[in-house]
Amino acid sequence: MRIEETSGVKTMLLLAAILTASSCTKKQQPDPQQPPSRNHDKASQIYMERCANCHGTNGRGDGPVAGSLNPKPRDYSDAAWQRSVTDQEIAEIIVRGGGAMKKSAVMPAAPDLSNDPAVLKALVQKIRSFEN
Ligand code: HEC
Repeated sequence: MRIEETSGVKTMLLLAAILTASSCTKKQQPDPQQPPSRNHDKASQIYMERCANCHGTNGRGDGPVAGSLNPKPRDYSDAAWQRSVTDQEIAEIIVRGGGAMKKSAVMPAAPDLSNDPAVLKALVQKIRSFEN
């Protein structure tokens, strides 16, 4: 009896694994069980894919594209700047872009992120995390 029970559980686990795997083939989802870390991972991924070219992998404003920009993206490790701006303002420029915020129009809008407030918030925290 004991052995049969164990193999039953194994079958269930295997089934669950297959189902989970097949429903996630489109995009990698590191850990759907933990929403906060999923948002954090997703925000990091978005940053690397869509922001780091200009803002630099460490948020120093030194991405490969930055040299040709005028004005250049600022250095997010600057504590004075970090204090001067609210989370709301950071979120707004990310979603609406520089042009809508009287800043450089080169800074692209990311309106899709307003559909995912938790990821947007995690992205703002990512900007905050660059402070020294
Ligand atoms: C094509 C280059 C480029 C890309 C890509 C880009 N930005 Fe920017 N970003 C800029 C520039 C240039 C500025 C400075 C605008 C200014 O000072 O007029 C800026 C400004 C900002 C600001 C406002 C900071 C300030 O100086 O007040 C935030 C926040 C920001 N970007 C976040 C992001 C995030 C997050 C992403 C990715 C989703 C991103 N940016 C993608 C070029 C870029």
